[in-house]
Formats: sequence, C-alpha cells, structure tokens
Amino acid sequence: MSNPVPEGDPRLERILFDETQIQIRVAELAQAILADAVGVQRLRLVGVLKGGWMFLADLARAIRRQKGPRVLYEFIRASTYGAGIKQGGEDLRQVAISGLPAAIRGDHIVLVEDILDQGFTLAAIRRQLLAAGAASVKVCVFLDKQLENPSAAVRGIRAGLVPEYVGFPVPDRWVVGYGLDVDEEFRDLPYVAIAREEFFQK
Ligand code: IMP
Ligand code: MG
Repeated sequence: MSNPVPEGDPRLERILFDETQIQIRVAELAQAILADAVGVQRLRLVGVLKGGWMFLADLARAIRRQKGPRVLYEFIRASTYGAGIKQGGEDLRQVAISGLPAAIRGDHIVLVEDILDQGFTLAAIRRQLLAAGAASVKVCVFLDKQLENPSAAVRGIRAGLVPEYVGFPVPDRWVVGYGLDVDEEFRDLPYVAIAREEFFQK
C-alpha cells in the first residue's frame, strides 16, 4: 500500500499529504493572498475553529516570513457534523456559529477554513460576515473535496461558493489530521490521511 501511516493505525488508510508537501503549499497560498493584498493597509484573517487552527497557524507564519502587511486575526466557532461523518447526498445541515467578530464593518476579510465539503459551513459564515457589514469576504480552504454525488441543493451551494484560495483538492472520503478530526480524534496529526469510514458512525 502506498504511503502507509507511520503509526500503523488500522482506521487510517494512507497519507494524502505529508508535512513537507503541506508546508510548501501553505507558503504558496500565503504568497497568493499577499499578491491580492498589494496596497492593503491591513488584512483581517478569520479562522474557523476548530478544524482551521493548524492551517491558520502555519499560514500566519508564512505570511509573516513573506513580509506581508499588518494582519489582524479573529476566530469563529462553527459546528456542522458534530461527532459523526457525513452521509451521501445531503440537502441541508444546520450550522451552529458563534463568536462572530464585532466591528468588521468595511473590512476586507479572508476566511480561513480546513476543508470545503458540502459548503454549508462556509456559506453560512460568509453570509453572516457580509450581513455584519464586511466589505468583502474571500475564502481560503486548505482542502477542497471533490464531491461524487452531491444533492441538487449542495450543487447549488458549491456553485455559489468558489474559494479564492485552495491548498489541495481531495477525493470524496473522510480525511483527518492537520486540524481535521473524526469525533475529536486525529486533529494533531502533522499530515493529512484518509480515514476508513467503516470504523466511524454516520
Ligand atoms: P461542509 O459544511 O459540508 O462544507 O463541511 C465543512 C466542515 O465539516 C468543515 O469545516 C470540517 O470541519 C468538517 N468536515 C467536512 N469534511 C470533513 C472531513 O473529511 N474530515 C474532517 N472534517 C470534515
Ligand atoms: Mg471546520
């Protein structure tokens, strides 16, 4: 099997992106964000907890290394899948959002998230940020899931939510590590791996 996980955990199938690949890609994303921010006095990055924490921490340092403008950081909390993993072809998921930053009127925001899957989470957060007066909201996701059988509703959401910055496309499987979890496990893996879905509840 290619790229077995170092720990040999039977619940993980294989590594998708290792630490070196991740750091190279994060530096490229920082460069792209900065290229679009020429002339901007200050950037406001809004990280989505919990999944986006490791990505945002690396992205922040990559931006600093590349001598970007002043950056302000905010964090939003969103919960969409709770302890489970998704079923196929869903139409709607309730997204619980808390910690919307105050005083963002007129700001240009880059929303930083671990993964774009069916799009419920980012669509809901973006809507709330714009309703709170943000001047613009760009979306930066580390992973972009290539959905195999999206419902019509999800196809519509995804069509309206094309992220400006994407780390890597990933297959339509449950992935973990580098911030991403199943039932709060695996967030601290320094790489991204594919989980074997049969071990986890839907
Ligand atoms: P969406 O609302 O369907 O786009 O799901 C996005 C949210 O669900 C992300 O913020 C993740 O926290 C979580 N999520 C979606 N797919 C995965 C996955 O494969 N592994 C871990 N978390 C995921
Ligand atoms: Mg998340």
